[in-house]
Amino acid sequence: MSHVIRLEAVRRFYGDYKALDGVSLDIAPREFVAVMGPSGCGKSTLLNILGLLDRPTAGHYWLGGVDAALFSDGERTLARRKKIGFVFQAFNLLPRLTALENVCLPMSYAGVDAAQRRERAELLLRRVGLGAKTPRTPLELSGGERQRVGIARALANKPDILLADEPTGNLDSKSSAEILALFKELHAEGKTVIFVTHDAAIAGSAQRTMRMRDGKFE
Ligand SMILES: Nc1ncnc2c1ncn2[C@@H]1O[C@H](COP(=O)(O)OP(=O)(O)OP(=O)(O)O)[C@@H](O)[C@H]1O
Ligand SMILES: [Mg+2]
Repeated sequence: MSHVIRLEAVRRFYGDYKALDGVSLDIAPREFVAVMGPSGCGKSTLLNILGLLDRPTAGHYWLGGVDAALFSDGERTLARRKKIGFVFQAFNLLPRLTALENVCLPMSYAGVDAAQRRERAELLLRRVGLGAKTPRTPLELSGGERQRVGIARALANKPDILLADEPTGNLDSKSSAEILALFKELHAEGKTVIFVTHDAAIAGSAQRTMRMRDGKFE
């Protein structure tokens, strides 16, 4: 298969409002793609559909050869858990859990046993440079550190595809550069990476930039 993700004429309407108005794209395995475009043009809507957090109103979403647009809620949850890691602009960590527990969480949903969860979460947190901070809760971490926990969590179930919606949108330039370096490493290791950004300099690190306007690609 020459693509890992294919969208065909995907639409997402909110009532009469066309947040996505016929989007088609092919993403090859191991591609590193940036999505740019003005506020409200549909970037998050697109990424949420790619991440199986939302479903199209119409069109096809071929994910590894099957049409995810036809998935039931349960099938979507399972496929998301297995194939996709999602990184959020606002981190979306659970505030009462430690960094370690946040990273363990997706593995517990996937049925990984407690000892393995802990071992892998420790490994991932070391990997993102937070080996010494595993017992901290999000409030005890900087923004850049929170996002690194978010990336470790996204990697918990070994997804092939990493999606990130403005992962550096809440970060200073130094933290942004660190997060970008991590994405580059993960891409070099073989992940397919798609991220949304407002920052042309950050988009410049990707292999390909796709620009959106009014619910479509330009
Ligand atoms: N749940 C919703 N109900 C109604 N309209 C929505 C909903 N979610 C998004 N929209 C609308 O769809 C359009 C696209 O939203 P989306 O969040 O995808 O934009 P975006 O490109 O990510 O913008 P930003 O750069 O500000 O994050 C916007 O006009 C938004 O108001
Ligand atoms: Mg958005």
